[in-house]
Amino acid sequence: MTKKIAVLLGDGIGPEIVAEAMKVLEALRAFGFKFEAEHAPIGGAGYDAAGDPLPEATLKLAKQADAVLLGAVGGPKYDTLPRDKRPERGLLRIRKELKLFANLRPALLYPQLAAASSLKPEVVSGLDIMIVRELTGDIYFGQPRGIEIRDGERVGFNTMVYSESEVRRVAHVAFGIAMKRRKQLCSVEKANVLECSELWKEIVIEVGRDYPEVALSHMYVDNAAMQLVRAPKQFDVIVTGNIFGDILSDEASMLTGSIGMLPSASLDADNKGMYEPIHGSAPDIAGKGIANPLATILSVAMLLRYTLQEAALAERIEAAVQKVLAQGYRTGDIYTEGTRKVGTVAMGDAVVAALRQ
Ligand code: IPM
Ligand code: MG
Repeated sequence: MTKKIAVLLGDGIGPEIVAEAMKVLEALRAFGFKFEAEHAPIGGAGYDAAGDPLPEATLKLAKQADAVLLGAVGGPKYDTLPRDKRPERGLLRIRKELKLFANLRPALLYPQLAAASSLKPEVVSGLDIMIVRELTGDIYFGQPRGIEIRDGERVGFNTMVYSESEVRRVAHVAFGIAMKRRKQLCSVEKANVLECSELWKEIVIEVGRDYPEVALSHMYVDNAAMQLVRAPKQFDVIVTGNIFGDILSDEASMLTGSIGMLPSASLDADNKGMYEPIHGSAPDIAGKGIANPLATILSVAMLLRYTLQEAALAERIEAAVQKVLAQGYRTGDIYTEGTRKVGTVAMGDAVVAALRQ
């Protein structure tokens, strides 16, 4: 059956990296994969096209499609817009509208990139962590929020909030993933200070009773941030809230050499999802043809695996990425002496060539 993929390029390096991911998808036709792609603007591009970072037509397309592939949003040009018109709001709204509550962010070290990590090779070699970040709740969406005058001065405020059901559903996803991996789950919160975290922990323990084979542990977020750089291989699956997951997943990405390597899946209750690299729009290098397209290409692999149930095709892509790394191809962010520095397009071409071999 022909699958429909909504392609949202977004801003900055978004169009360049997604173009390479689309070449990879095209190459999969040779293996019998049938798809059609439809493009729509989001983020700053959505604002430019329709005065809205999430235009109505884009949301409609995303809802109809089997899966969504997204580049990145944001850029300095849009920083002075009213808050609800900013690119990031478009991204947050599409996550919320599509009910994509489970954000999977794998931090996997490709052996060839051990030298590109800022940590010693022995600390990171063999690293394979899955961060499950709750994506539609927490301080990102909690009410009340705002900036207002109190006692003659401006006060900014946000609300950290989680309901039992929100914690429960993401905990089930995380335990389910742990069951397919090394059966270790670490729940990260700040229960020593925050009531919201206290409830989080309680619910995760409760859900854990359904998964007696999974070894559940708990860690405060400050300690987790430290442990990630001290001894990251102690982690298998991490489950955490939206804001902690945002921060820890950026941190974890550096263990793998570059944030340019990390894909993500954002799933709803039926495994329908949106796929995007975890890095941003990188306005500083946009248009220069030097961005690393591998995180986006690996996001396509996740799309095939989690939403389209095409695990074999996903493995083909992942093997092709391994192969180009083994061949020495490196974009600037993962370049180390003795390897072959290439740009965005050449990296995409190399992956396609490896797929065809
Ligand atoms: C991410 C990004 C987004 C987030 C921004 C761009 C709104 O940092 O996907 O991690 O904070 O979720
Ligand atoms: Mg982030």
